[in-house]
This record gives sequence, structure tokens and C-alpha cells, in this order.
Amino acid sequence: MRNPVFNLSPDSFDGLSETNSLPPRGMGKVCVYSTIPDPTCGITLGMEVPSSVESISVILATEYWGIFLLRDRKFFPAIKVISSETLMQSREDTANKVLQDTGAVLIPSFNDGHFISFAIVNFHTQVRIKPFAQQTPVLTSDTLDSIAGRKLYFKCECFQKGGAFKFRGACNAIFSLDDDQATKGVVTHSSGNHAAALSLAAKLRGIPAYIVIPKDAPKCKVANVKRYGGHVIFSEPSMQSREDTANKVLQDTGAVLIPSSNDGRIISGQGTISLEFLEQASEIDTLIVPISGGGMISGVALAAKAINPAIHILAAEPMGANDAFQSKSNGRITKLSEVNTIADGLRAFLGDLTWPIVRDLVDDVIVVDDKEIIQAMKLCYEVLKIAVEPSGAIGLAAVLSDGFLKNPVYSECNHIGIVLSGGNVDLGVLWNSFDK
Ligand SMILES: Cc1ncc(COP(=O)(O)O)c(C=O)c1O
Repeated sequence: MRNPVFNLSPDSFDGLSETNSLPPRGMGKVCVYSTIPDPTCGITLGMEVPSSVESISVILATEYWGIFLLRDRKFFPAIKVISSETLMQSREDTANKVLQDTGAVLIPSFNDGHFISFAIVNFHTQVRIKPFAQQTPVLTSDTLDSIAGRKLYFKCECFQKGGAFKFRGACNAIFSLDDDQATKGVVTHSSGNHAAALSLAAKLRGIPAYIVIPKDAPKCKVANVKRYGGHVIFSEPSMQSREDTANKVLQDTGAVLIPSSNDGRIISGQGTISLEFLEQASEIDTLIVPISGGGMISGVALAAKAINPAIHILAAEPMGANDAFQSKSNGRITKLSEVNTIADGLRAFLGDLTWPIVRDLVDDVIVVDDKEIIQAMKLCYEVLKIAVEPSGAIGLAAVLSDGFLKNPVYSECNHIGIVLSGGNVDLGVLWNSFDK
């Protein structure tokens, strides 16, 4: 039997929450078709539907993936997920077939100006990682507010398990593997925080984690990986050597590759930061997030814009690794031939999944230099009394930078949420920074 179809043209879709554009009551059960590459990643394109709606039948062909928005958690009826191959062609073909079979209406997501009606909020993910991840505290400081001239809220992911937000994504990725996939373990290449997070999550699941680490990674990060039981394999610092070494481990072990950013499960996990943050401080009108591979800001932006479409999402990036800034300016992914910054967690580049999200949902990239990052680390230590690593302190550096303070565009950003993304700093680096 065909599911009832509500003809949602893109124009009417934005008005879904207005009663005159709703389908009549009693049309049947809700049925959402979503072509997503990986149904286990726990994010399914969806929309907020007021409780008066009893039925809707929609096919969602997503450029990326999607979700069922569960702001009030009660709207969660039968979702039919139809998997396709990851390739866009396969997704489109699958969507077209479902369209023909059901007579449903195709609603493309993103890039059509309507993504704000849609939501990517990781309800499944939040549930999946809840038993393991910390709900990190939000700190405020009158002193820092008066320096910034705004109200600041600090989400302390430096208190997350493993010392950085990365545990959220790693945990989601590992606990969404089925038993067969999981037994052979997981592999990644990472300069640190993702590596430690993956090791810890793997340990909690009781499976091996093979971690390829560049030789020049900070000692405390290598020590973290070892502490959590990860098997460390060193590579040369270059990305090519990291990838080659990881591929060799993959072949030797049959483990599952879990990338540090460019992965739906990771993005979904990092999105839980927004879910918590905006519940802890709902007055936030702007979020500032460090950017490297873009996994964190992608998840944060997708979830935050679903909860509050008007929220500003700003990326903070070091001058010596400003590929996101350049990519946004050029309108295409731009990689750098070399990077040079104290923020060792921010030296990676955007990927094919994270770039379109950054392109479409991140309002601006604020670039700061290493001196500003060091000053922000200092303020975190002296005022907030917490140790934050350079990559983690960059959001505060951005808010205090001239580029932000003197730009009239940001004058309406008055309640600013800053993600202090990690605290894995070699003490030597922290102390030395105090002399600079
Ligand atoms: C502390 C810290 N902050 C921010 C980032 C950037 O995250 P993403 O690569 O998801 O953009 C990283 C990445 O390693 C990190 O370790």
C-alpha cells in the first residue's frame, strides 16, 4: 500500500510549522525515507513536525545524511531507512526508485536554501554515548566578559574523557560498529586527541585500537594513547606517511578505519556538544569552534542550526594553518603545502564531507596568530583556572582578537559560546608560554 503523500514544495516546506501548510490530520502513519550512506551512524534527515501533525510521507535524498529532529523527543514514529552506496549516483538512483515506488515527493536537503527547516540532531548518538561520555560543565567569568565586552560561556571539553571533545565522536563510531566489525578492532592515524579518544572508547568496548601517530606528536598525547591501551605505531610526520602506515595496518589486521574528522559517525558524535551546550545556556546566540578537519564544527553547526536557525557559527583557525579560511574565500577546498602553528590539533585540512557543511553552515572563519593563542591559554589558566591546550584555547583568542572585536558584523553577537575543546597540553608548553 502506498503511503499518503503530502506535497511539500520547497516553498511550502519552510512554512511547515505554520498550520496552513500542514497536511490534514489522519492521513496515516509518518513515514520517512532517507538515503544515507550509513544508517548506523545514527543521523537521519528529518524535520520538526508540530504535534498536531499525524502524518507525513517524505522521501529525503540527502547530500550528506540527515536526522530526525527530536526536540521534544516524542516524535519518533516508524522511520524506514533505505541504504544506498555512498556514491552520490547511487544515492540519487536509490532515491529515484523510492520516488517511483511510493509516489512520494523528493525534497533535496542542503544547498537548496531549506536546510534550516531540516535538522541534524543526534538523538541516537546522544543516547549511544551517554553511558560513557561526560556532560561537561559550562563556566562563565565576569573578568573575561569585561575584557570581551560580551557575555561568554565556556564549554569545558578539556574535562571530557580523554581530555578532549574527541571522545564523543570516537565513542559514537566504536559503539555503532556491529560485533563482527568490532572484533578485529579499529585503526586511525591522528596526531593525538582522536587517537587517545579512540583508544579509550575501544578499551570500553573491549576491542583493539591501532593508532598511527606521527613521530613529532606531543609526548603527553602519545602517553595518553598508551595509557588507554592503544597500540602505537609511529609514522613520519607527513600525511602521506600517516596514510600509508594506516593502510598497512588495515591490511594486516582487518580492523575498521575510523577517521578523525571526515566521517559521519564522528561528526554526529561531535554534534552532541551543541545539544548539551544549548540546553545548558539557551541564551547563546553565537558559537565559536576551533576548526581543523572540520568534524567538530560540522556536527556542532548541524545540530545548533537545527535547534536555533538564527545562531551564528564561527570557526577559529590559526594563521599558520588557515586552510578553512582560504577554502571559504576561494569557494573550494584549499589545502596548504605546509602548516606552522603551536596548535598541534589544528593542522589537518577539511575533507569532502566536512567542507560542504563548513561552506554552507559556518558563517565566518576568524584567523588568529600563535601569540593570541598563547595569550588565551594564559587567560584560561589564570582566570578560569583550567589548563587548556593551544587548539582548545583558540576560540577565546578569536573572541578577543581585533578581527572580531572591531568588526561591526559581530556587534549583534552578545552571548557567545566558546568550545574549549581540549586540555592535553605538555606542561612545558604551558609554562613556556607564560614567558612569551
Ligand atoms: C583540542 C582540539 N580542538 C579542535 C580540534 C579540531 O577538530 P576538527 O578536526 O574536528 O576540526 C582538534 C583536532 O584534533 C583538537 O584536538
